[in-house]
Amino acid sequence: MKVFVASAWPYVNAVPHLGNLIGSVLSADVFARYARMKYGNENVVLVSGSDEHGTPIEVEAIKRKVRPKELTDQAHEYDKRLFMDVWEISYDNYTRTESDVHKDFVKKFLLSIQSYIITQKEVLPYCENDKIFLPDRFVKGKCPYCGFEDARGDQCDNCGRLLTPDLLIEPKCSICGSKPVMKETMHWFFNLGEFNDKLSKWISESKTMPENVRAVAMSWINEGLKPRAITRDNSWGIPAPFHGAENKTVYVWFEALLGYISATIEYFKSDAWKEFWFGKDIKSYYFIGKDNIPFHAVILPAMLMAAGEYHLPDVVGSTEYLLYEGQKFSKSRKIGIWIDEAESIMDIEYWRYVLIRIRPEEKDSNFTWREVIRIVNTELNDDIGNLINRVITMINRYFNGEIPQLHHELLDDKDMALISLMKEAPVKMGDLFEKGKLKAGTDEILQLARENNAYLNLKAPWDLIKTDVSKVANVLSISAGVTYTLSFMLSPLMPKHSRKIMDLINVNVDKWEPLQDPSILKGKKVSKAEPIFSKLPADIEKKIPDILKQVREEVEKKRPVLLK
Ligand code: MF3
Ligand code: ZN
Repeated sequence: MKVFVASAWPYVNAVPHLGNLIGSVLSADVFARYARMKYGNENVVLVSGSDEHGTPIEVEAIKRKVRPKELTDQAHEYDKRLFMDVWEISYDNYTRTESDVHKDFVKKFLLSIQSYIITQKEVLPYCENDKIFLPDRFVKGKCPYCGFEDARGDQCDNCGRLLTPDLLIEPKCSICGSKPVMKETMHWFFNLGEFNDKLSKWISESKTMPENVRAVAMSWINEGLKPRAITRDNSWGIPAPFHGAENKTVYVWFEALLGYISATIEYFKSDAWKEFWFGKDIKSYYFIGKDNIPFHAVILPAMLMAAGEYHLPDVVGSTEYLLYEGQKFSKSRKIGIWIDEAESIMDIEYWRYVLIRIRPEEKDSNFTWREVIRIVNTELNDDIGNLINRVITMINRYFNGEIPQLHHELLDDKDMALISLMKEAPVKMGDLFEKGKLKAGTDEILQLARENNAYLNLKAPWDLIKTDVSKVANVLSISAGVTYTLSFMLSPLMPKHSRKIMDLINVNVDKWEPLQDPSILKGKKVSKAEPIFSKLPADIEKKIPDILKQVREEVEKKRPVLLK
């Protein structure tokens, strides 16, 4: 089986915050790391890249009097380094929409679906001074409802009403302030409606698509799909390949989505990419934020259907929203934490673990420092870390540092129950992961660790050792089996810490295979016990505002201009 894994392509004009990261990039990485262990490295590919075209960047470049690419070059490198070097995201290819392979592919692809493309005339606001058609939100003016002076052409931030640019009183170009004119322009549209029935059949028959995604797609389809513009009058983008569309570019969504394919092509540099896009034995996973659902569950599949035999998405895993201490993340109000700030606050693997544990999987979730402290100090340090520490210490103390022999004939119900759990937990975790349920999957790690702790307390090997060494051997053999199991279950989340645990019991696990019988660990030398995790200071919550203030000052100096 081939497993295609992707994260939504991050916009390159803003540093992602923790909410962005957990929705797409980190979720995709954790899943891909699992999938590589389960299905083999060569059968998994993880791709993404910078989504770098479109009006906001073009406008920023006009304001700064530079070429847009100068801005995105820096920002792309900045993001890429953060993902790959800081956050341990194991992309096989993290590319960008400016890559030549991507641009060529988009042109060819769009030409190949021309029979589904129609043209229509539109009348849109145009700035004669900047010589640019203005997207709705780049027209500013007075709100006709509440009189707010600084309303945008798509919405008034004061009264919240939706607007169109022609409703604004005294409309102004948001770049230069002059009055836009209404100008006729022609655009190319993808005739989505032709796929109504096919999409509806596909999504309702899919056995793998999460329910929330299916519901959004169905509601779009039931409303009736209308033609969607795929060209824009921007200059910053991929030139539209259609005859008569010179000077127009492809609307960002209609090219960025094709990046999933072009990034695979670019990665393999041979026909091998086709194994991930054509054929029967493929599963594809897309990890995205909630606002991206229609693009991945309606538009992308329709484009793929238009082009022929491409493999359609199997699992689109989307998250709800993450709040920061009860509030929305806000750049202007500095509410939240950004991915270039996190490393100075806490070990990145702790962040990875914490974020997956609070992943907004079924409903919005709230990042609070209180919860972070609980997760690190209780789950990582106590439930998992202390457990492993106890086990290693006792193996050293009672068995001279060698994992003891399992005496099958002495196994009782409690031993058997823990062995069963040890075998089942990774299977359950894998099944949940394959449904896109990463947080739920990791509950299995905790349950296994907690059961092992309870088992040790019940068996009390420290007393039992005085009367029955063989029974203690069983307790520690089984517990070593659990340590082995925990080490690989943690590895998609915390690759380095997982390796440390493996080192403690002198194993190297790179396959997602439950340990069937702990006795195969017999005789392995364990290292001296060493704490794997450490607690966060209880007063960190109080200190956070100061820490953040300091971190922010340093980080902001280093950000490229586009990201300031
Ligand atoms: N840049 C978009 C966002 O952050 C996601 C684009 S996904 C892609 O919302 F596949 F289209 F690239
Ligand atoms: Zn203007």
